[in-house]
Amino acid sequence: MPDLPDRVTVPAHATETPDSAERGALLAAAFPALLAFYDRERRHLPWREEPTPYRVWVSEIMLQQTRVEAVKPYFERFMRALPDVYALAACPPDTLHKLWEGLGYYSRVRNLQRAAELVVRDYGGELPRDPKTLLTLPGIGSYTAGAIAAFAYGVPAPAVDGNVLRVLARFFADGRNILDPRVKTDFETTVADALSRGTPRPGDVGQALIELGATVCTPANPACEKCPWHDACRARQDGRTATLPCREKKTTRREETRTVLLLSFGGRYLIRRRPDRGLLASLYEFPSLDGFRTEEEIRAYLTARGLTPLSVALFARLYPPRLASARRLCRRRRSLRPARRDAARPQGKRAADARPGRRLPAPHPGAHPGRLPAPLGVRTADRRDPHP
Ligand code: ADE
Repeated sequence: MPDLPDRVTVPAHATETPDSAERGALLAAAFPALLAFYDRERRHLPWREEPTPYRVWVSEIMLQQTRVEAVKPYFERFMRALPDVYALAACPPDTLHKLWEGLGYYSRVRNLQRAAELVVRDYGGELPRDPKTLLTLPGIGSYTAGAIAAFAYGVPAPAVDGNVLRVLARFFADGRNILDPRVKTDFETTVADALSRGTPRPGDVGQALIELGATVCTPANPACEKCPWHDACRARQDGRTATLPCREKKTTRREETRTVLLLSFGGRYLIRRRPDRGLLASLYEFPSLDGFRTEEEIRAYLTARGLTPLSVALFARLYPPRLASARRLCRRRRSLRPARRDAARPQGKRAADARPGRRLPAPHPGAHPGRLPAPLGVRTADRRDPHP
């Protein structure tokens, strides 16, 4: 392997705000030092050791929103159980769910399987190498498409994730909002331009950018003294590493108030499955209604579904910050009012509705915050219930 420089001195930025082509040239000049850093310092991760398209794909999907250390054992187990795209396409959903259990964000694995089915059906079991074609598969966005193309096939395609955006925003001291999709696209263009100037190892350049962001150019307290771009980084020169990148969220937090029903019968509680799409898709939960509901409303809701409530008790009102983790998950603030419905006895032909796991129809819209001022307590008539 030829000797590569440890550090790189990038020519002075020609202008205060270099355009995409100038940036591409600056970045390309910094690749040799980056590769030297990668060869010296990189972590040995299972998906890097044998970067087949399938392994790169599965690892990148697992790594979305999940830490490397957490992913490693899941990845190894997944590869043992489903070693190729055919096994993934044919895997029963419950087995697949089990293999993913604990990683969260289950829509990822459902998309993975849907994409595997398409790869088998339309591409002879081989993942496409063209990023544009990869983008048409479920669950594959521009980063993952670039990662598969570059890491597995050596295509000079940009793979720009949050880590890489941070590194680049600092390298160029770019104060634009990296959460703005147009800014991301612009950085992708810059990386594509730099790669097109002829680096011999485009895949490793992509991996090295990720590595730099994960281990050196960290969000807080970056280890600039260890950085191969120490002398070139504009943010370090300007003393702006603590304030770059700029991340301005546009989203406003939505507040939700719900009444959660703990419907018990014979000591068992009814749960339902959430819809296949959207927040916490396909996971199980206690049924709930929007808004704070009165006892009459709850009774009417159950009766309309063929259930006879024997007793009602209000358990608790939960407000943030106790729901901080739920908020983190869903970006919605939820005020929950669990209302336990003891012995909601099934009646008539709708009796099956009370079976655990049986989904209740969606509640009526119309919230009435605060209409139940005091906790309700109604004892159950069902003596078998362990929580009267
Ligand atoms: N995070 C996302 N992709 C990664 C990769 N290929 N290696 C390490 N961390 C990552």
